Amino acid sequence: MTTVRDLQEMAGETPITMLTAYDALTATIVDEAGVDVVLVGDSMGNAILGYDDTLPVTVDEVASRTGAVARGAEDALVVADMPFLSFGTDRAESVENAGRMLKEEGANAVKIESGPHTVELTEHLSNLGIPVMAHVGLTPQSVNQTGYTRQGTDEEQAKDIFDTAVAHEEAGAFACVLEHIPANLASHITESLTIPTIGIGAGPDCDGQVLVVNDAVGLSDWSPPFAEAFGNVREEFESAASDYVEAVQDGEFPAEEHSHVAEELDEFY
Ligand code: KIV
Ligand code: NA
Repeated sequence: MTTVRDLQEMAGETPITMLTAYDALTATIVDEAGVDVVLVGDSMGNAILGYDDTLPVTVDEVASRTGAVARGAEDALVVADMPFLSFGTDRAESVENAGRMLKEEGANAVKIESGPHTVELTEHLSNLGIPVMAHVGLTPQSVNQTGYTRQGTDEEQAKDIFDTAVAHEEAGAFACVLEHIPANLASHITESLTIPTIGIGAGPDCDGQVLVVNDAVGLSDWSPPFAEAFGNVREEFESAASDYVEAVQDGEFPAEEHSHVAEELDEFY
């Protein structure tokens, strides 16, 4: 069983691997493949729920999926991603929503898109025993302000991102996701923080890497330029589904070996 302490010990020694999963089956596969962390990302909005962005994703949706992932994963740390407006509005409500992921669904930690409004909350949750993974750089829940463009490309923005990461480490975050920022900024943040950084579109110098699982296995119909497909699952999937359709239409499936005849019924007819 991987703990947040294990990840902190890996930082700077062994690269940390994280993939998303949104169901028990996928969680079992990536867990058995050896990923250290399974993230129940609010990227489920785009990846599997058919939304254009992550904003409509609900606490119930993340909770249900977190339960499934926690049932499927054996060794990996399970992190539930707190969806848009489930935190940072009212403190008691934020605690309840985050606490539910651990208390009812079996997550080991939560991830929160970081900003000035999440520093105090991060400290409070950490004190309560809810480990918090911070997330700076591109934070997709702010798409209406930033779009999906690379962040931290001028000095002022870079300093903002750096300061936010440091403030969350000081508040007790156990790790920090760095999304879509220049590699040299990510490298500087990684050197400056004690807690592990986990990058996506943030270059090779982070303590770990994360990808959306659909992108990593080649299942997505679209993926960002900084992602890499390590397989061709979409093609396999499409070909299996169309082979099935053809086999049924041609009367080739089910065959004799898929069928059972009950001799006892012969008299009946
Ligand atoms: O929701 C998600 O999948 C994420 C990762 C890309 C970091 O936040
Ligand atoms: Na997310």
